[in-house]
Amino acid sequence: MTTADAAAPADPLSGDEAASGFAARVRTETQEAHDSAEHSAFMDDLLAGRLDAQAYTALLGQYLHLYRVLEAVESRFESAPELAAVLDPRLHRAAALEQDLAALTDGAPVTPPTPETAEYMARLSDLQPEEPERFFAHHYLRYLGDLSGGQVIGRLAVRHYGIPETALRTWRFEGIERLKPYKDAYRQALDSAPLSARQQDAFIAEASAGFTLARDLFEGLRQE
Ligand code: HEM
Repeated sequence: MTTADAAAPADPLSGDEAASGFAARVRTETQEAHDSAEHSAFMDDLLAGRLDAQAYTALLGQYLHLYRVLEAVESRFESAPELAAVLDPRLHRAAALEQDLAALTDGAPVTPPTPETAEYMARLSDLQPEEPERFFAHHYLRYLGDLSGGQVIGRLAVRHYGIPETALRTWRFEGIERLKPYKDAYRQALDSAPLSARQQDAFIAEASAGFTLARDLFEGLRQE
């Protein structure tokens, strides 16, 4: 079953972790790392409206560097059976980020990566075909994150910073109309992915490391 034919049954993640498989385990075992990223000082300030459109634009600038690497590295995993059910070009963000940044900065050059973003990029560049579960973890983190919290970030950027509708492509997934069934199908793909127990443990360790890198990226944007 691929995420493309997303006819998801009832959400297995409605708090009944015991009832389901690897997806629920990933969610449970990375929840703390997720919350630590979600509630980093920069993100709390951004979502509360305590920053400005420049801060929001700076975040997108760093994300562009990240997604360019992630989406370039993806080609190493195109034949990995572990990822066959989730790789989907509709998820890619680099082009949407480029368009939003051009709109928000009148085509100004993209700011260079911060040291924290450079470290995150290095981790992604280091992903090798022998370890598809590590790439899978970053794919899950970034894209399920953008299909979740990302929608919140987009909404609040409009409300607090007057970001124009024309500069919200980063959070709009062309061709994926209904996000919840898509996310549920992604979780089902996680449950049925041919990952060994060792690979599942490595996936969770890499996802936790990814959340920490995401939090550090946010903190790297804080103006002292
Ligand atoms: C920035 C503030 C953030 C907010 C407000 C937020 C909010 C949320 C919410 C509400 C969900 C649950 C969605 C659902 O049940 O379908 C969620 C899930 C998720 N978020 Fe976040 N999030 C944030 C940051 C992040 C970051 C930085 C990442 C990754 C780098 C991330 C990755 C994820 C992932 C992978 C899921 C799916 C969990 C699962 O169902 O397995 N989030 N987020």
